[in-house]
Amino acid sequence: MDYKDQIATNLSVCTGLDKAQVEGLIEIPPKLELGDYAFPCFVLAKTLRKAPPMIANELKDSPELVKGFDGAVTVDTAGPYINFRIDRGVLAKSVVSEILEAGDQYGNRNIGEGKNVIIEFSSPNIAKPFHVGHAFTTILGNSLSNIYTRLGYNVIRFNHLGDYGTQFGKLITAYRLWGDEAAMQENPIDELTRIYVKFHDECKVSPEREKELEDVARDNFRKLEEGEAEEVALWTRFRELSLEVFEKTYARMGIKFDNYNGESFYSSRIPGVVKMLEDKNLLEESEGARVVKLDDLNLPPCLVVKSDGTTIYASRDLAAVLYRHEEFNFHKNIYVVGLPQQLHFKQVFAVLKKAGYDFADDCVHVGFGLLKFKDNKAFSTRAGNIIKLDEFLDKTTEKTAEIIRKNSELRGGDMTDEQIAKVSEVVGLGAVSYTYLKAGREKDIFFDWDDMLDFEGDTAPYLIYTYARIKSILRKAEDQGVKANADSVNCLTAEDEYAVIRSLADFKDAVVKAAESYEPFMISRQIALIARNFNRFYNNSRILNCDSAEARDARLKLCEAVADTLKSGLDMLGIGVVEKM
Ligand code: ARG
Repeated sequence: MDYKDQIATNLSVCTGLDKAQVEGLIEIPPKLELGDYAFPCFVLAKTLRKAPPMIANELKDSPELVKGFDGAVTVDTAGPYINFRIDRGVLAKSVVSEILEAGDQYGNRNIGEGKNVIIEFSSPNIAKPFHVGHAFTTILGNSLSNIYTRLGYNVIRFNHLGDYGTQFGKLITAYRLWGDEAAMQENPIDELTRIYVKFHDECKVSPEREKELEDVARDNFRKLEEGEAEEVALWTRFRELSLEVFEKTYARMGIKFDNYNGESFYSSRIPGVVKMLEDKNLLEESEGARVVKLDDLNLPPCLVVKSDGTTIYASRDLAAVLYRHEEFNFHKNIYVVGLPQQLHFKQVFAVLKKAGYDFADDCVHVGFGLLKFKDNKAFSTRAGNIIKLDEFLDKTTEKTAEIIRKNSELRGGDMTDEQIAKVSEVVGLGAVSYTYLKAGREKDIFFDWDDMLDFEGDTAPYLIYTYARIKSILRKAEDQGVKANADSVNCLTAEDEYAVIRSLADFKDAVVKAAESYEPFMISRQIALIARNFNRFYNNSRILNCDSAEARDARLKLCEAVADTLKSGLDMLGIGVVEKM
């Protein structure tokens, strides 16, 4: 039974408030002894003209409040709060059976059924290295995609590749002058970066040389825009080779996209956008350029067509959102892009709104912070200290392997090299993903390998280790021929057991809240709590050699439920598990 749901129904009947509003107000008390759910009575004070504690007191005895619970729920108050307490045994039974039925799909819902949600993430620029900065959007966007999918939405994963713009005129020029075919085959992105840098270095030689190169580059870009075969062929090649490199990284991280329409895809649709804005009288001349003024919204004008007639980033985004709406009639269109682009998205959404497209309100920019080393230096291309994501992942898995090997040696060397490599890949990549997802996304992240790989800390290794430990208990039970059944789960009422049950029950809400706020950390925080509660229970209780078969069975079932929930939550974060480590 869904206790929270029934409590909300009852409260709605008693207070006359809308059920959805009640659901939003119900809290989980900060301390276990305060009960399982709390309802704050402040909202009723105005209409009832009474103090909230008084209202709480008057409501608490209403028989309607505990309807449908068969005596399993009791009610009392604490100041302005009405607290609901569910019988521990009953709660244990209900939560554990629900999880065992759902398995590692626990937390799934169908609230998104029939709704299309576009999630745009990663969107790297072709011909440029994929560095640790891109990992944030990639990991965050992938996690949000998983979460929305689990809630029943039809998720369409978009990669809005940065594959267009005047820089491609430069790249074509540079390639013709200095491109090395063998190097291109070997490592296309390194080679493209090398010649791009060389182009800029050459420009510094003299103003004449700069003008000469820039002129050729502009001409090449124009040819590309006009669809000249040679330029298009080169650009296509740069794009394909880059994509191959990116896709290797995506495959390694278990990430897939449904749509790779990059900026170039939308360029042919821009004249339509310009015409639409013209027809709606929104385009104004400004210093030779064409803009949409947004003064009334306290925003700077949105530049749509540059003074030289070329289109820019914002116009491509306008074309893209119109396309997405036309094609997918989205319920939500989510952009997982760094906070520095906040203004850009505000402008794009504002232009849409001005043009009368109400779906502007269904567009969301999900921003995130910066990555920094512990010594406070930001990872940035300009500072010249780019760390390529692949190298970062390699280094992390290597360090993970050292730890796993050491642990295995302490146990007498129970893992082969192959096993160690496999486990380290999952745990190492998990450690990286978790580091990006463990705190509010707008916060900056401070990288430190020791923190990230601390098997006792708030880390993926800790969670995966907890999972593997449970699996080993379950294997042991099986080896001993124990076939636990769930009949006695209602005996899990001790303090440690209740804490685990409670945190398992709250997992479902955490998933919904994570989706609503685009904050996967609501899930990571919840599974970290479950793991801590579990480990406390595990350290204080006997499981296999319990006093009674009932207690043993119940505890084994609890173990199973915890493992399922950890696996489910980690999967939502894009993190895998291992059965043994
Ligand atoms: N390629 C861009 C960059 O690396 C990010 C694209 C963001 N998405 C968008 N629809 N504008 O900065």
